Amino acid sequence: MASKGIVMSGMRPTGRLHLGNYYGALKNWVRLQDEHDCFFGVADWHMLTTGYESTGRLNEDVRDMVLDWLTAGLNPEKCVMFRQSRVPQNAELTLLLGMITPISWLENNPTYKEQLQELGKTKLSKALEGASIPSTEIRQKVSGAALEPVEADPERSRLELRTQGFLSYPVMQTADIAVYGAGLVPVGHDQLPHLEISREIVRRFNGIYGEVLVEPKPIVTETPKVPGIDSRKMSKSYGNGIDLFETPETLKPKVMSMFTDPTKIRKDDPGHPQGCVVFAMHKLYSDFFPRRETECKEGTIGCVACKRELLESMDGPFAEFREKRAAFDKPGLVDEILEAGSAKARDVAESTMERVRSAMNLKARLGR
Ligand code: TRP
Repeated sequence: MASKGIVMSGMRPTGRLHLGNYYGALKNWVRLQDEHDCFFGVADWHMLTTGYESTGRLNEDVRDMVLDWLTAGLNPEKCVMFRQSRVPQNAELTLLLGMITPISWLENNPTYKEQLQELGKTKLSKALEGASIPSTEIRQKVSGAALEPVEADPERSRLELRTQGFLSYPVMQTADIAVYGAGLVPVGHDQLPHLEISREIVRRFNGIYGEVLVEPKPIVTETPKVPGIDSRKMSKSYGNGIDLFETPETLKPKVMSMFTDPTKIRKDDPGHPQGCVVFAMHKLYSDFFPRRETECKEGTIGCVACKRELLESMDGPFAEFREKRAAFDKPGLVDEILEAGSAKARDVAESTMERVRSAMNLKARLGR
């Protein structure tokens, strides 16, 4: 690792990654590993903030995601890939930062408010508003039935999100970053509010205990827009994603059902490529997209032919990805990489924690 500074970022283990994850984050990470000391974490504790009821697939999801990282080009020789839950120092720092973080900072976090609404569109959460003890009894009363065995999906209506853990999401994220002394955090626009809270928490900490922690700055790189097949933002929860490792059989129906200009009905109708998902994908996969724009606008190509050509252009890159992934998909390999990475991560985290404990007078030795 050659360093222009320490970089840290994380992803919640959502299993197989989609094109949005790849173009929005991973490609950047791959670039950064050549110039910085990079720590890339599988944020499994963060996953639990919304997925605490559905941990059944957690390990598979971690493995799938890290395989995708490797395939995209993250290299364990160049960066540290680790699993958050294997670094207990991170939990310790989360606890300590919790002491100094005013609840209002967390409650006013726009991401928190949005997610609460999005994921918790729930009768139960509403009914529980104001309930001081969210006990099983109350839950049963509200739902009118015994709770089913949990194999819940985070979006299921019963999920209680008014938890301490979910509220403290940014505190844990701050610890994530600060425990490695990272000054640079590559994130998407959606994470900027979190980063702002992190900066404030670090400033407050340093104000009280001295300059111990590094104030992190976001690196926001403009990335190409990758819409989902229905033209909304590509997201697992909308089910509109294209995985990095689609096969020709799974890719075809997705491309053929991509949202196109609804006013272009016949081949010779003039089209409006802006807002057309097929066009956005041509930008990523075809050399001829400038010509395609004219052809579409002039009505010299129809949407079906345009989709067929897109499929052809995607075929090569997808095949390459699949082959690479198969080569990494060996028993034990991901475990080994994550274990070695987590050991390195723990070393760095422990040295930060030594300084933190010392600054807070939490050293175990009393001296006399
Ligand atoms: N919250 C981030 C997301 O949802 C993931 C994350 C966890 C993260 N820890 C981090 C990002 C530390 C940057 C730095 O995408």
